[in-house]
Amino acid sequence: MEIIIQPTPEAATTIAARVLARLIREKPAATLGLATGGTMGPLYRELVALKLDWSRLTTFNLDEYVGISPQHPQSYHHFMWENLFRHVNVSITNVNIPDGLAKDVPAACESYERKISSAGGIDLQLLGIGTHGHIGFNEPTSSLASRTRIKTLTPQTLRDNARFFASESEVPHHVITMGIGTILESRHCVLLAFGKKKARAIAEAAEGPITAMHPASALQLHSKVTVVLDEAAASELKMQDYYRWVYEQKPDWQKI
Ligand code: PGA
Repeated sequence: MEIIIQPTPEAATTIAARVLARLIREKPAATLGLATGGTMGPLYRELVALKLDWSRLTTFNLDEYVGISPQHPQSYHHFMWENLFRHVNVSITNVNIPDGLAKDVPAACESYERKISSAGGIDLQLLGIGTHGHIGFNEPTSSLASRTRIKTLTPQTLRDNARFFASESEVPHHVITMGIGTILESRHCVLLAFGKKKARAIAEAAEGPITAMHPASALQLHSKVTVVLDEAAASELKMQDYYRWVYEQKPDWQKI
């Protein structure tokens, strides 16, 4: 796991945008795994400003709420169109987001997995992290081998996400999310976290035991993970000085 610590969320976002931009330039028909949430908005703004060619890219989003329509202002469909897709030349037929209104949820989840496989797997998966360590909506106790499926949100996530809704009671209780097993099959995971409220989750993900109680800790099993943090999110890492030193010592050919 490579841990990159930057002074501010803005500087960390720029690093993540460069990682994505490099892939998009080197592999114009790449498959991207995309995420939503407060952390991703500024990243998408930077990507849009880079005016990259999205015409041959395929995208798969991590998750969606069950029971709300794509037009709902808090749906992840809506988030993606407002924050990214309507500003770039992506082909609508190459955009994949779980269907929160699917009548047959298990069949829709299986079909989502098949589509990822048919696209050749995900080249780069963007990830945020929940305050209790979720990636996607894989809440604590999610199987580390899980695939795309329905999940029930924890009270912690309902509280965390209430800020996007008029009240906590409006946050849907169910979601469709790629599984931890699905995420671990992507070729590169790029996780972003900013702010003190993410510091404990990051320390447990990078330096704690691998456990279903902290789903992001499963990333320790992946051979290519880049974690991009601001100072506050890095503040509980025991090895933070080492990570800074490693980043400063990088040979030129490895620099981002
Ligand atoms: P946030 O969400 O970017 O809004 O903090 C991250 C997550 O829950 O994965």
